[in-house]
Amino acid sequence: MASLARDAGHRLRIHPLDVTDDNSVRAFAAALQTSPVDVLINNAGVGGSWNPLLSIDCADMARTMEVNTIGAMRLSSALLPNILKGSTRKIVYLTTRMSSMTDNTPAGVYGFVGGAYAYRMSKAALNAGMRTMAVDFKEQGLITAVINPGWVQTELGTKNAFMKVEDSVQGMLRVIDDLSAARSGIFIDYQGNEVPW
Ligand SMILES: NC(=O)c1ccc[n+]([C@@H]2O[C@H](COP(=O)([O-])OP(=O)(O)OC[C@H]3O[C@@H](n4cnc5c(N)ncnc54)[C@H](OP(=O)(O)O)[C@@H]3O)[C@@H](O)[C@H]2O)c1
Repeated sequence: MASLARDAGHRLRIHPLDVTDDNSVRAFAAALQTSPVDVLINNAGVGGSWNPLLSIDCADMARTMEVNTIGAMRLSSALLPNILKGSTRKIVYLTTRMSSMTDNTPAGVYGFVGGAYAYRMSKAALNAGMRTMAVDFKEQGLITAVINPGWVQTELGTKNAFMKVEDSVQGMLRVIDDLSAARSGIFIDYQGNEVPW
């Protein structure tokens, strides 16, 4: 983190943030003061335990929801005044195709069918929160979306994933740039294709 800050010079400011912690989110929002925020990208996420139902880990399920769902809403709530002052007023959330009910069938495109209760449920609930915000803040010009980044080679995605981080990020940046009020509340992937709920 220190080397990232040094390399980026004055163009980048880095703050600590734990989205599960009220005090941490409050301190982050306070550090921004009244600065406008053009785009908020809620990236923080955990995979949670993929135990089958008969050995479900409920404490882990609660932790997964705390980061993936509640954390994202806590941050969105804290930064909303800054976002509404921004030039583009966009909030996007990293979701997953695994949150799609339609895709969780034998014909699903990933072949990840069944299982991963905590992860699927936490992201499906996140999708619902995002969609609700699109409705509630339409008049104020807020534009929201959940984006599926693809299966990406990160710690969470593992080395078996199809995609390099750069390719996913480049695609998502284009998708975020192209988001318009007319498409607010959408479930979309890194290539700009709409994902069925
Ligand atoms: N990789 C994939 O194939 C894939 C597919 C679909 C969706 N996604 C979604 O994409 C997003 C990014 O995932 P990734 O693949 O980059 O996973 P990752 O390599 O495991 O990175 C997860 C990131 O979330 C941060 N984080 C976790 N808990 C946090 C908390 N309480 N507060 C603040 N930050 C927290 C981590 O920060 P620290 O490093 O500081 O812990 C880390 O930067 C996630 O929302 C994930 O669900 C990923």
